[in-house]
Amino acid sequence: MIHNSFSVTMNFAVAFALFYLITVESWRVHSQEPKKLYVNMTLVNNARETGAFCLDGSLPAYHLDRGFGAGEDNWLLQFEGGGWCNDLKSCLERAKTRRGSTNYMTKYETFNGILSNNATVNPDFYNWNRVKLRYCDGASFTGNRVFNNGTTKLYFKGQNIWEAIIADILPKGLGKARKALLSGCSAGGLATFHHCDNFTKYLPTNASVKCLSDAGFFLDGRDVSLNHTMRYFFKSVVTLQGSVQNLNKNCTSAMSSYPDLCFFPQYVLKYISTPYFILNSAYDVFQFHNILVPPSADPHGHWNHCKKDPAACTPTEINTLQGFRLSMIAASKPIYFYSNRGGIFINSCFAHCQSESQDTWSGADSPRIINTTIAEAVGDWYFCRNKSKAIDWPYPCDTTCRNLIPVLHNLIP
Ligand SMILES: *[C@@H]1O[C@H](CO)[C@@H](O)[C@H](O)[C@H]1NC(C)=O
Ligand SMILES: *[C@@H]1O[C@H](CO)[C@@H](O)[C@H](O)[C@H]1NC(C)=O
Ligand SMILES: *[C@@H]1O[C@H](CO)[C@@H](O)[C@H](O)[C@H]1NC(C)=O
Ligand SMILES: *[C@@H]1O[C@H](CO)[C@@H](O)[C@H](O)[C@H]1NC(C)=O
Ligand SMILES: *[C@@H]1O[C@H](CO)[C@@H](O)[C@H](O)[C@H]1NC(C)=O
Ligand SMILES: *[C@@H]1O[C@H](CO)[C@@H](O)[C@H](O)[C@H]1NC(C)=O
Ligand SMILES: *[C@@H]1O[C@H](CO)[C@@H](O)[C@H](O)[C@H]1NC(C)=O
Ligand SMILES: *[C@@H]1O[C@H](CO)[C@@H](O)[C@H](O)[C@H]1NC(C)=O
Ligand SMILES: *[C@@H]1O[C@H](CO)[C@@H](O)[C@H](O)[C@H]1NC(C)=O
Repeated sequence: MIHNSFSVTMNFAVAFALFYLITVESWRVHSQEPKKLYVNMTLVNNARETGAFCLDGSLPAYHLDRGFGAGEDNWLLQFEGGGWCNDLKSCLERAKTRRGSTNYMTKYETFNGILSNNATVNPDFYNWNRVKLRYCDGASFTGNRVFNNGTTKLYFKGQNIWEAIIADILPKGLGKARKALLSGCSAGGLATFHHCDNFTKYLPTNASVKCLSDAGFFLDGRDVSLNHTMRYFFKSVVTLQGSVQNLNKNCTSAMSSYPDLCFFPQYVLKYISTPYFILNSAYDVFQFHNILVPPSADPHGHWNHCKKDPAACTPTEINTLQGFRLSMIAASKPIYFYSNRGGIFINSCFAHCQSESQDTWSGADSPRIINTTIAEAVGDWYFCRNKSKAIDWPYPCDTTCRNLIPVLHNLIP
């Protein structure tokens, strides 16, 4: 039994790594991009003072492309995503990769989608200072402890990495920002929920500060075997890394019996006072494959055909997916119904991360809801040009999707 649950959790972490590497990245490589913008890495030397190191002890890093013209005093920060590690074994493995060490990262990052400097692709943010915060701690920038048993040392210092990066860029102009947006995708989208209000506090009180989560609205949902797989997984991440002390205090005191649940966006959302935009697919492929139907909940692989191709799902499976969509809509009520300053874009695609690539951000054939692209929806909300709350009709109504599914069969064992 112990062995089983261990390998179940491991499968989960490995599945995410595979998912990200095979699906999202190969999809990006093969998509057609105009001239690419490569941005140099900056190592954060002041991180030494607080021991804010990556898992392996290397210095954390970010990439900054300077704003210009009217955007000179505006700042967009984006947390990189890439799953989590939840035990010593998976974190040790991660420490030897670009997900846990700047030593293995590309020194130049491509800035695309919301990070693009091309006004056609990114009309609202192209001339802002744009910063990509590299992810190397394995817990969405929330950890704060060191594991050291004499032979093995691992740094779980994501919270300190966040603070060290902010301290490094404040004097570069962030401290005088007029407008700012904290964004991120996947594990990086989750990080925005945990740092949004703290980000606001560093900026001038008269600055306009908002936050955007892309594919970071991970639900505390039951899987198809009725187990809380994701809840167990996040609990193990948060416990290993000592993250609870860094979660929203109002949330953890309200949920004092289960403070680790505040790692889930749906519980912390109502305690965040900064204006928020939630961008997510109702059938987010990561959540479908790992929260709703993790391999442990479908040991015989009954869902494999449906995971590969939504058109091959049985009516019962579609019903289950529609139930998941409804849970997501219910969880986003604090924004959809009760927030005047919030925005939302929940489409019915099989996608994961839609703000980082031109294909899904603003292209001629990008996903739309009522003919509005994601770039337009986020811009309308940020600049208060228009109400920006849209939830698409359920699958299969949306014909504008760029589903990830065609390459997903690589994932299935
Ligand atoms: C539920 O999932 C957890 C984590 O994956 C696992 O440890 C546990 O054994 C599962 N429970 C059941 C009843 O399958
Ligand atoms: C900006 O993007 C548009 C649309 O993709 C493209 O046609 C144009 O060449 C790009 N400009 C530059 C300088 O890359
Ligand atoms: C990139 O950054 C490194 C380290 O700061 C520096 O040595 C290198 O010259 C930079 N490259 C360019 C093209 O600016
Ligand atoms: C330290 O922890 C690592 C990882 O769990 C383990 O492999 C190693 O045997 C431990 N060393 C000691 C001295 O306990
Ligand atoms: C905020 O106040 C400072 C100091 O009064 C001023 O220089 C700056 O222009 C103001 N920023 C905005 C966005 O109004
Ligand atoms: C941001 O959060 C950290 C950790 O809780 C805290 O030490 C810091 O003072 C906060 N920053 C501001 C400006 O409040
Ligand atoms: C958090 O709690 C403090 C102290 O009780 C309260 O002043 C503040 O308004 C709360 N914030 C939110 C967003 O609920
Ligand atoms: C959708 O928007 C595009 C460009 O924004 C426009 O050319 C097209 O006419 C619109 N289509 C509909 C059906 O409104
Ligand atoms: C605001 O949205 C409505 C419909 O959603 C549209 O008809 C109108 O043109 C938009 N206004 C602006 C200024 O974009």
